[in-house]
Amino acid sequence: MRYRALGGLRVSAVGLGAMPLSIEGRPDEDRALATVHAALDAGVTLLDTADSYHLPGAEPGHNECLVARALASYGGDTSGVLVATKGGRGRPAGGDWTVNGSPRHLKAAAEASHKRLGVEAIGLYQLHKPDPAVPFEESVGALRELLDAGTIRLAGLSNVDADQIRGARGILGDRLVSVQNRYSPAVRDSEPELRLCAELGLAFLPWSPLGGLARSALDGPSRTEGEQRFAAFHTVAAERGVSPQRVALAWLLSRSPAVVPIPGASRPETIRDSAAAADLLLTPEERTRLDVAAGAAQDVRAHG
Ligand SMILES: NC(=O)c1ccc[n+]([C@@H]2O[C@H](COP(=O)([O-])OP(=O)(O)OC[C@H]3O[C@@H](n4cnc5c(N)ncnc54)[C@H](OP(=O)(O)O)[C@@H]3O)[C@@H](O)[C@H]2O)c1
Repeated sequence: MRYRALGGLRVSAVGLGAMPLSIEGRPDEDRALATVHAALDAGVTLLDTADSYHLPGAEPGHNECLVARALASYGGDTSGVLVATKGGRGRPAGGDWTVNGSPRHLKAAAEASHKRLGVEAIGLYQLHKPDPAVPFEESVGALRELLDAGTIRLAGLSNVDADQIRGARGILGDRLVSVQNRYSPAVRDSEPELRLCAELGLAFLPWSPLGGLARSALDGPSRTEGEQRFAAFHTVAAERGVSPQRVALAWLLSRSPAVVPIPGASRPETIRDSAAAADLLLTPEERTRLDVAAGAAQDVRAHG
C-alpha cells in the first residue's frame, strides 16, 4: 500500500467509502464486516462514513456503528486507521437527503457520532454539505468549536466550492485538512477545487470516484455508451490485465498527490481490487491517453 498525506497524518492512498454497507441494497452484517476487514487486510487506513448513511427514516448512525463494530472485531492492529465521518445531512422517510448546517445541529450530531464511534476524539469530521439556509461561516464556526472542545481532531468539508474552501481555511487554519467532492472520469467539475487543495496542501477525497464507470457500463456484454466513452480505460485495463475500475482509481491518483479516492464497496472482492490501484503506477503515455478520454484539464498536473 502507498500512502498520502492528510493533515499531519499519513493515510492509505485509497480509502474505503462505507456508504454502500448501510443504504438501500446493503449487504447483510456478515458481508458488511467482511468488506471492512478486507479493506483493512489490504492496507486501507482511511474509512469514510457519515451519520446519515442509513436507510431512509431510520435512526442516524447505522454506518458509523458498523464501522466501529468492524474495527472492534478485526484481529489486527487498527491504531493507524483514520475514521472520517460527516454531519449536516439527514435521511428522513421518503429517501430525500436533507441538509442541516445549523451550529446547534452540527454540535449535537458530532457528539452523537463521537459516542457511536467510541473513540477518544473523532479523527476527521467533515461538514457534509453547506446549508443554503445557514451562513457558511456559522457552520464552519461549529467545526472550530468542536476542534477546540477536543470532540474532533481534524476538520474537513464536502460538496464545497473554492470560495468556501478559502473562507473555511480563514476560520480553521491548518486544522482544515480535507475536501471531499464528487470527482471521477465522468464528473470533473471539481477540478478548480482539486487544484486549490493541491496548492493549499489539503487532501482531496473524490466521492463516487467510479461514478462515471458504472459496473454495467464496464462489465456488460454490449458496448454501451459508457464503454465507448471510456474505451481508453478499458484498453489500458486489458493491456495491464487489471479491472477498468482499478485503472480509473490509478488515474485519479495520478491527477495530483492531493488525491485520496474513497471507492465504495459492498463486497470484499471489490475493495481488494480497488485498494490495489494504489500500486498501479501509470506511465506518462497512459496518463495522457486517460486524460484525453476523460476530457480532463492538463494543468491540474502542473501542481503535482
Ligand atoms: N460527500 C458526499 O456527499 C458523498 C456522496 C456520495 C458518496 N460519498 C462517499 O464516497 C464513497 C464512494 O462513492 P459511491 O459508493 O457512491 O460510489 P463509487 O465508489 O463510485 O462506486 C461504488 C460501486 O462501485 C463498485 N466497485 C467499487 N470498486 C470496484 C472494483 N474495483 N471493481 C468493480 N466494481 C467496483 C462497488 O461494487 P460492490 O457494491 O459490488 O462492492 C460499488 O457498488 C461512498 O461510499 C461514500 O463514503 C460521499
